[in-house]
Amino acid sequence: MATGGGITSLSLPTILLSIIVFILISIPPPSSSSCPPHQKQALLRFKSSYIAIFGTTADVFGIIPPFFQTGIWDPNSDCCTWDRVNCSTGTRNKTRTIVELHLDAMLPFNTVPVYLDIFNPLFEIQSLKVLDISLNWLEGEIPGDGFGNLAGLVHLDMKQNNINGSIPRQFSRLTSLRYLDLSTNFLQGELGPELGSLRNLTTLTLSMNRFEGLIPRQFFKLGSLRSLDLSSNTLEGGLSSDVSKLLNLESLDLSENSFSGQIPFGIGELRNVTRLDLSKNQLTGLIPSSIRKLTKLETLRLKNNMLTGEIPSSLFKIKTLKKVLIGGKGSRLVWNHKAKIVPRCRLQQLSMPSCGISGPIPEWISTQKDLEILDLSSNQLDGEFPKWLAKIDIQSIVLSDNKLTGKLTPQLFDSKKLFILALSRNNFSGELPENLGSAKGIMILMLSGNKFSGQIPMSISKIVLLMLLDLSRNRFSGDKVPMLFRDNFPFLAYIDLSYNELSGRIPVTFPTSTKILSLGENKFSGELPESLINLSNLEHLDIHDNDITGNLQDVIPFLIRGLQVLILRNNSLKGFIPKMISNLTSLRILDLSGNNLTGNFPPEIGNLANMIETPDLLPSVGIYKYLKAFPYFSLYRDNSLDLPLVLILEWKRSLQMLSSQNLALYSSLDLSNNRISGEIPATLGNLKSLKLLNVSHNRISGNIPLSFGNLESTETLDLSHNKISGSIPQSFSKLKQLTILDVSNNRLTGKIPTGPQMDTMNELNYFANNSGLCGMQIGVKCVGDIQPSHGPEVDDEKLSWISWEGTWVGFPVGLFSSILFMAYY
Ligand SMILES: *[C@@H]1O[C@H](CO)[C@@H](O)[C@H](O)[C@H]1NC(C)=O
Ligand SMILES: *[C@@H]1O[C@H](CO)[C@@H](O)[C@H](O)[C@H]1NC(C)=O
Ligand SMILES: *[C@@H]1O[C@H](CO)[C@@H](O)[C@H](O)[C@H]1NC(C)=O
Ligand SMILES: *[C@@H]1O[C@H](CO)[C@@H](O)[C@H](O)[C@H]1NC(C)=O
Ligand SMILES: *[C@@H]1O[C@H](CO)[C@@H](O)[C@H](O)[C@H]1NC(C)=O
Ligand SMILES: *[C@@H]1O[C@H](CO)[C@@H](O)[C@H](O)[C@H]1NC(C)=O
Ligand SMILES: *[C@@H]1O[C@H](CO)[C@@H](O)[C@H](O)[C@H]1NC(C)=O
Ligand SMILES: *[C@@H]1O[C@H](CO)[C@@H](O)[C@H](O)[C@H]1NC(C)=O
Ligand SMILES: *[C@@H]1O[C@H](CO)[C@@H](O)[C@H](O)[C@H]1NC(C)=O
Ligand SMILES: *[C@@H]1O[C@H](CO)[C@@H](O)[C@H](O)[C@H]1NC(C)=O
Ligand SMILES: *[C@@H]1O[C@H](CO)[C@@H](O)[C@H](O)[C@H]1NC(C)=O
Ligand SMILES: *[C@@H]1O[C@H](CO)[C@@H](O)[C@H](O)[C@H]1NC(C)=O
Repeated sequence: MATGGGITSLSLPTILLSIIVFILISIPPPSSSSCPPHQKQALLRFKSSYIAIFGTTADVFGIIPPFFQTGIWDPNSDCCTWDRVNCSTGTRNKTRTIVELHLDAMLPFNTVPVYLDIFNPLFEIQSLKVLDISLNWLEGEIPGDGFGNLAGLVHLDMKQNNINGSIPRQFSRLTSLRYLDLSTNFLQGELGPELGSLRNLTTLTLSMNRFEGLIPRQFFKLGSLRSLDLSSNTLEGGLSSDVSKLLNLESLDLSENSFSGQIPFGIGELRNVTRLDLSKNQLTGLIPSSIRKLTKLETLRLKNNMLTGEIPSSLFKIKTLKKVLIGGKGSRLVWNHKAKIVPRCRLQQLSMPSCGISGPIPEWISTQKDLEILDLSSNQLDGEFPKWLAKIDIQSIVLSDNKLTGKLTPQLFDSKKLFILALSRNNFSGELPENLGSAKGIMILMLSGNKFSGQIPMSISKIVLLMLLDLSRNRFSGDKVPMLFRDNFPFLAYIDLSYNELSGRIPVTFPTSTKILSLGENKFSGELPESLINLSNLEHLDIHDNDITGNLQDVIPFLIRGLQVLILRNNSLKGFIPKMISNLTSLRILDLSGNNLTGNFPPEIGNLANMIETPDLLPSVGIYKYLKAFPYFSLYRDNSLDLPLVLILEWKRSLQMLSSQNLALYSSLDLSNNRISGEIPATLGNLKSLKLLNVSHNRISGNIPLSFGNLESTETLDLSHNKISGSIPQSFSKLKQLTILDVSNNRLTGKIPTGPQMDTMNELNYFANNSGLCGMQIGVKCVGDIQPSHGPEVDDEKLSWISWEGTWVGFPVGLFSSILFMAYY
């Protein structure tokens, strides 16, 4: 070798240098050491469709798409170094491949729908093991063939998108999957056997979709499963005893479905279960005693089923047990109050509403020093509020709907942790302790329906976190209310002081956060304060049955446009209904009955938009939304401590309870029992979404407007005790929802209109004392053919008869009479 001799002459530095050079040369150029070019190209194609949709500039909210903030995914760099991309290590084998893509929460909020197809290029990256495309507002169906290509996937997360359609059958190819989360989408259809072949699955989460039908048998072969969450779907059928084959389960959540039948005894075999949630189903039968074998159980939720029989007290011997929720709506469980319980658990939450618990509050609970939430509402508990309970440093006490008696001890309010205190509808009495305000953490205070008396303690004004205050239906008295409220409650949204004996002027100082203000049936007097205009969030104002004076036309300008409900029934208001009532554009419920109003109907009343059309997006009373926005509150929702918000509205014939959610559906106008005169303006017929219209007991004259035939939602129409003349327009035969029509004590003549619904209006008293009504409804034959006074009515009737022939479905069920009664504490 020519260089043979030279080798020996090489110096050490030269050798080192050449080694370095060798190493450098033997490292392949970047393109071959980074991810394979076709994988890089796939990512770049995805990037360009992304840019085509979003661009690289800020979105409507000024948020730059997170993905492109600083020129990431630079085509000239190694894609293994790209953000959200992980490659295999591949030290020996020179080619690295993409194994992880974390593309979650990266599509900015936008109004353009983005379809799952945007990810199509990624289906070429067959080396993928982890794919996360959760939280992206993605629409469309899951491309089956695309995902079928990714047979190496171990972890697939698609939660929280808007994906619809069903799970494609190609998913059965993803046999390496260990983690699959498709929750919070719009997936539908029956669960097929596809997922049953994914034997390595340890986590399967399909909650919050629209899956229906049975749990497929194949699911019970997924022996590796540690977590199975099928909650919030519409699955049904019995719970197979095969569930006991899923021996490795640690968490089983089947809540909020329609599962029926019994809880299988075999459930006791799931020895590793720490969390078992079967709440909100239609399960029947006993709580199996085998449940005590679940020695690792921490959370047991069986609430809102139809379970019967005795609650196994052995449950409380499970040392690990922390949260128990049983009972609730529909439950027929009983509690053996004679059973001696020596608990071994350290509970944080004990929720046992409607569990047939009688006698005093079970004393063994006093051993539970970690208790944060205690809900024993809707039982038959009696006796006094126990001293030991007042001493526990607890966050939430819900004992509503029992028969508890006696006074509240001041000790209860020494707690700084107390967050919810709900004692409504018991038999508590006496004055509230003066130190009430020491419990500064209270956000929800509900004491309605007891016999509390005396003044509301001044110290309440120190509970600055208060969001909801319900002291209604007690015997509170005094005229110091204005001093309790001095805009010192930044969050207070719900104030109910109705049905007490409070007096004095209407307080001028309610906090601006107030949304619902109920002061009805007290002894408040004087004029309404101008400062009402400062309650810029007010949606619901109810001051019925007080002694409010002054002119209505002076009050209306103090009310804000957002007001949805205004109830001033049975006060001493004078004056007239001003034109500008139509400026209260959100008004849905207006009750001015039983005052001393005079003047005419302003035609402008027919412009009230929310009485004309039920808006698509219901103007919810907003209180739920409001409360939910507080993180602390949502924590409690999660513990299924549903909040008891019920507004009790009195319609003349009965007491109606509307949950604040379905209150949004109702619209009514009650001007009865005043001294309103003149004619009914035809514009009133615009109010198509009204359920109730009552103008009785006034001095109204003239005819019933023909336009009343347009009141298509009206169920109750009371025109009685006026001076109305002419005939009942034939257009009334179009009122398909009508269930009460009272036109008595007027000067009406002529034939009562006929029609499927009008023919059922046969209550004689409602037609009595008129000048000459006739018709089959009242058994009075009409003499000859009474000519209708208006030409078009005849056509109207014919038209409506024709349209009914096609759509006749029997008597419409009045919405108004089918108000949902909400479970409440
Ligand atoms: C994936 O890559 C990111 C950087 O892009 C890194 O922070 C993360 O630790 C990697 N994950 C794994 C599992 O290697
Ligand atoms: C490197 O891995 C690829 C695919 O994983 C394989 O096709 C190739 O044969 C491997 N090369 C070597 C040198 O092991
Ligand atoms: C899924 O939604 C898209 C629109 O986003 C619609 O075109 C398609 O028909 C839906 N598919 C199913 C099965 O509902
Ligand atoms: C399932 O898991 C086992 C053990 O982790 C593994 O050996 C096997 O390859 C996996 N099966 C598939 C199809 O990935
Ligand atoms: C339960 O958990 C233990 C320890 O976490 C584990 O060793 C065991 O395999 C699991 N499965 C069963 C069926 O016990
Ligand atoms: C309420 O308590 C009073 C005594 O304070 C008692 O007379 C009354 O019967 C109780 N009412 C109910 C419904 O328990
Ligand atoms: C409304 O509030 C403002 C600021 O607190 C106050 O100055 C004003 O007097 C109030 N208006 C009425 C009518 O009370
Ligand atoms: C009107 O309110 C008074 C108390 O202010 C009450 O005594 C009366 O019964 C109420 N009238 C009606 C009809 O409700
Ligand atoms: C009521 O609304 C009308 C038009 O919508 C407006 O001109 C008028 O000023 C409003 N009145 C008051 C007092 O706000
Ligand atoms: C209504 O007002 C008239 C006079 O304005 C008065 O005589 C009458 O007593 C009032 N009625 C009521 C119930 O206040
Ligand atoms: C209409 O109002 C009057 C007086 O307020 C009341 O007596 C009557 O019951 C109401 N009619 C209906 C149908 O509710
Ligand atoms: C009809 O009028 C008479 C006399 O005013 C009255 O006694 C009766 O109660 C009225 N009937 C009805 C149904 O209102």
